[in-house]
Amino acid sequence: MKSVQVCDKSFSLYLSEEEIIKEVKRVASAINSDLEGKCPIFLVILNGSFIFAADLLREISIPCEIQFMRVASYEGTSSTGKVKEILGLNESIEGRTVVIVEDIIDSGTTMKELLKMLQERNPADIRIASLLVKPKNMKVELDIDYRCFDIENDFIVGYGLDYNQEGRNLREIYKIID
Ligand code: IMP
Ligand code: MG
Repeated sequence: MKSVQVCDKSFSLYLSEEEIIKEVKRVASAINSDLEGKCPIFLVILNGSFIFAADLLREISIPCEIQFMRVASYEGTSSTGKVKEILGLNESIEGRTVVIVEDIIDSGTTMKELLKMLQERNPADIRIASLLVKPKNMKVELDIDYRCFDIENDFIVGYGLDYNQEGRNLREIYKIID
């Protein structure tokens, strides 16, 4: 089994490039038929989803717009995670269909906060497209419209996802060896 070293940890191959692309195409095709005539705004959440977004969006054949946002979670005084905008969204989303493009939904708290923030800007509809979901770790209720893979609670890296900011450039997805 192919393995890689990222910083101080070893990872083994988990999802090949071929498997990833197959699922990305499946999700793109669902979006193409569901959102035809809506001219959705794809909101790409940096940094982790840049590769997923590049592959997904090149399979989108309906008219659409693409915007970027960078958020960071931080621990407030309460137990709920809060999210702040590092790179904000300046375009209006009022009355629009928005598709959030995310790399991974783990506990779901980042997504929950992001949804709250975006709802205040009065979009017509918000949908979530996530490359990966760790359902066993989810701590909030989320309606995830489009997802490529449900995975176990293992730490993974590659295809945009990092470990200590490294490993994003790996073509495949790797799972930590513990
Ligand atoms: P959540 O708020 O717990 O859902 O966290 C989501 C964020 O945690 C993602 O956007 C990633 O940046 C990061 N994350 C969660 N799991 C992993 C992983 O297995 N590898 C790399 N980053 C991860
Ligand atoms: Mg992320």
